[in-house]
Amino acid sequence: MSSLSTSDVDIWNAIKKEEVRQVDGLELIASENYTSAAVMEAVGTVLTNKYAEGYPGRRYYGGCEFADEIENLARDRVCQLFGAEHANVQPHAGSQANMSVYLTVLKPGDTYLAMDLSHGGHLTHGMHLNFSGQLYNPIHYGVRESDHRIDFDQVASLAREHKPKMIVAGASAYPREIDHGKFAEIAREVGATLMVDMAHYAGLVAAGIHHNPVEVADYVTSTSHKTLRGPRSGFVLCRKEFATALNRTVFPGMQGGPLVHVIAGKAVCFKEALQPSFKDYARQIVTNAKTLAETLVAGGIRLASGGTDNHLMLADVTAIDLTGKIAETALDQAGITVNMNMIPFDKRRPLDPSGIRIGTAALTTRGMKEDDMKLVGAWILEVLKAADDASVIARVRAEIQEFARQFPVPGIG
Ligand SMILES: Cc1ncc(COP(=O)(O)O)c(C=O)c1O
Repeated sequence: MSSLSTSDVDIWNAIKKEEVRQVDGLELIASENYTSAAVMEAVGTVLTNKYAEGYPGRRYYGGCEFADEIENLARDRVCQLFGAEHANVQPHAGSQANMSVYLTVLKPGDTYLAMDLSHGGHLTHGMHLNFSGQLYNPIHYGVRESDHRIDFDQVASLAREHKPKMIVAGASAYPREIDHGKFAEIAREVGATLMVDMAHYAGLVAAGIHHNPVEVADYVTSTSHKTLRGPRSGFVLCRKEFATALNRTVFPGMQGGPLVHVIAGKAVCFKEALQPSFKDYARQIVTNAKTLAETLVAGGIRLASGGTDNHLMLADVTAIDLTGKIAETALDQAGITVNMNMIPFDKRRPLDPSGIRIGTAALTTRGMKEDDMKLVGAWILEVLKAADDASVIARVRAEIQEFARQFPVPGIG
C-alpha cells in the first residue's frame, strides 16, 4: 500500500483519476509526451531533498558528491547527443532556458527578432505580457500568407532595418522543418547572435531527422519533455566561449538551487535518446503525423501549410463551421485531447481562435502506427462534423476507450 494513498487520499485519488484519463484517452497535445518509467523513477527519488547551488566541483553546499556525478552525466550525455561543446542542464523549464540566454546576450531595451506568437512563436519570443516582451524590444517575423512557410525575405529585411542584437529561431506551432542555415546567414550578415529554440522538435534533431541547430547557432535552448520525451524541464547548449557567461546567468543570475531530481530524470532521458530505438520512435512520430494529416485533409480539414514535416499540424476548423474552442471541447468530451490554437493570419482571438494544434509524439510513444492514425483521424473527423451531437460523442468516446486501452502508457500498470 502506498503511503500517499493513506497520508493524503485527496491527492492520491486525483493522481489515480489522471492515470485513468491518460490511459483511456488519446493524447494529441503537441507539447506533451509520456516519459519512461525510468525517467519518472529518477524524478521521484531522494534527490528532491538535496540543495546543490553552484556547479559540479564548485558547490555552495556540502554533500554534493552524488549531485555532481548526476549533473556531470547529464551534461556529458546531452553534449554527446547533440554534438555540443557546452551544456547547462539547470534551467527549470524551457522558459527559464530562454530567459538565461536573453539575460546573457541582451541588455534591457535591446532589440531582438523572433517569430510572432500568432504565427507559431512562443510566449517567451516577445509576447507583451511575458518578460521577453516587457524587458526588451522584440520585432516579429512571421510566415507567408501564400504557403504558411517562414518568410525569410521578411526576416532579412527586418534584420537589416532594425539591426537586432539577437535573432531567435524556433516555434511552438510551426508544422514545417526550420531552415537554421538561413537564419544563421541573416544573423551573420547583420552581426546578430543566433539563438535556436528547438523545444518542440528536439527529439527529431536528436534522431538526426531534422537539421541540428548546434552546427550553426550560438545558443540552442530546449525543453526536455516534448518530442525528446524526458521530464518537464529545460537546458541550454552553446559553444565553449559562451559557457562561463551562460553559467553565471543561470546561477546565481536567474535561479537558486537546481532541481537535482529533475536533472537525474534528464540524464536518463538523454541516455534513452542515444539508443538506436529512439531513432525508430522519432521516425514513427513523423510518419504518424503525415498519415494523420493526410487523413484529415482527405476528410475536408484545411491544414496550415497544407501538411507537416514534423510532429504537429495546425487545423483550421472554421472551414467546417467550428471555432477552435468548440472543436477542443467536443474532442475532449470524446476522449481526444488537443489545444485550440491561432492559425496564421487568424481573424479570431487567442481565446477563441480558428484552429486546433494536433501532435503525434505521445501516441507514438504508446506504440501507435499508421493504421492507428487513420482510425484516430476518422474519429477526429466524426466528432468535428457532429460537434453538437452528444450521442455521436458518447459512442466515439466508448470506442476510443476500448482502443486506447490496448496501448500501454509507460509507468502505469
Ligand atoms: C518553442 C518553445 N519554447 C519554450 C517553451 C517553454 O517551455 P516551458 O513551458 O517548459 O517553460 C515552449 C513550451 O511550450 C515552447 O513551445
